[in-house]
Amino acid sequence: MSLFRKKSLAALMKQVGDKESGLKRTLGPGSLIALGIGAIIGAGLFVRTADAAGTVAGPAVIMSFVVAAIGCLFAGLCYAEFAAMIPISGSAYAYAYVTMGELVAWVIGWALVLEYALGAATVSIAWSEYLNKLLDGSIPYQWCHSPWDDVGPGGVTGLCNVPAVFILALLTAILIKGTKESAFVNSIIVFVKVGIVLIFIAVGWQYVNPANHTPYFIPADALTTAQIKAKALGEALPEGTRGFLEWGWGGVLRGASIVFFAFIGFDAVSTAAQEAKKPERDMPIGILGSLAICTVLYILFGHVLTGVTNWQTFVTTGKEASVAYAIQNHMPGYGWLATAVTVAILAGFSSVILVMLLGQSRVFYSMANDGLLPKIFSDLHPRFRTPHKSNMLLFVLVGLFAAFVPGKVAGDLTSFGTLLAFVLVSAGIWIMRKTNPETRRPFRTPLVPLVPLLGILVCGLMLVAIDGHTQLVAVGWMAFGLLIYFGYSRSHSKHQAG
Ligand code: ALA
Repeated sequence: MSLFRKKSLAALMKQVGDKESGLKRTLGPGSLIALGIGAIIGAGLFVRTADAAGTVAGPAVIMSFVVAAIGCLFAGLCYAEFAAMIPISGSAYAYAYVTMGELVAWVIGWALVLEYALGAATVSIAWSEYLNKLLDGSIPYQWCHSPWDDVGPGGVTGLCNVPAVFILALLTAILIKGTKESAFVNSIIVFVKVGIVLIFIAVGWQYVNPANHTPYFIPADALTTAQIKAKALGEALPEGTRGFLEWGWGGVLRGASIVFFAFIGFDAVSTAAQEAKKPERDMPIGILGSLAICTVLYILFGHVLTGVTNWQTFVTTGKEASVAYAIQNHMPGYGWLATAVTVAILAGFSSVILVMLLGQSRVFYSMANDGLLPKIFSDLHPRFRTPHKSNMLLFVLVGLFAAFVPGKVAGDLTSFGTLLAFVLVSAGIWIMRKTNPETRRPFRTPLVPLVPLLGILVCGLMLVAIDGHTQLVAVGWMAFGLLIYFGYSRSHSKHQAG
């Protein structure tokens, strides 16, 4: 049995054609763009923009958005070709099975767990943060933070993030009921979410203070993050200087690896390909359309956020629920907006979690259909036609992360898994053009191999710029995945070479 045995494209397409026994096809282009934006605008924008600006990029976080968007554009063009050519659930995992063989497919599938499952966990943690803001901090610190978060007021340490687990349970129940209903709810939330981003930009624009944008890049001799925190507390400043990836363009690059999280999700559209009405037309529209809209919004949003609030406050008083903080403290008379924005953000986060959970269960669905995971992950509910058992097991997995891991760690791991998948998908397009030149491609990635190569380069650079500890944990996760592959999946695979 070869590690590089491939699933044949013909077998895959038969699976696509097997509509009757599979998932229902209910999503058109509008729903898919909404699904994309629903997955895209979330904690990346409303939490990690401030994190990147406060720790490494300063006002130049806008440049970080541009770098991340460029990487996503190249990878997105590759995703669109795959999604239209192989319109099947499972996203990058399914594409890799056809192009690069089973082992690489497994690696991608396992990396996608980081993307979707940990992505859902990250956003649920951010949801908890903004809920606490809405309730004026009345949730006891220990019940809305993990044991490994910073120590809270009065020296309290976190125990378990209960609100994060609560929102995951609620959304899992909605998902089990079915995609069509969830897509409808999602469309309403997307409308509210985009509206609130536009209002924040329009109102905040008048409060932009050019002094906050000067200097634009963090200078080499700026205080370190630890020093900024100590200064705010009136403590003695610890020794230290900023590292290579913590100021100037280096900071912009690490900032890109942080705010990259804000773009994750456009590829989630491709995980719903088997539920799209006309995948060859709808997939590229859904993927590239949602990416373009979000990029423009992010650049404007980053300009306003860092113009209204000085970047250094994002590691001290403005660390949690940064957008509500900026409005409350720097936009006088707009207290109502802070509340409205917080409510909209809570709804917006819910739609992100929904799509992430949906994406994850669909990836597991495909992997189980191929025999690489136990059948329980592909069992469909007799009436709702959703992989309900998989949804429930995922709730347990994601819930554990949400309860006991800090948002920043979960977020960085999510970026790692996604960037790895993007690099491999970009390579896959190039390989596929050589191995299967005749296959019908309703959408063609332009300028192959230049675009895939640039996708590999830009996403690869962000991958390397991720925090070193996260990289270690992520490598450990991937190694654990290989143990499962060699211990179980390889011998249970349903596909032979060919
Ligand atoms: N892009 C999604 C977010 O920002 C994952 O929350």
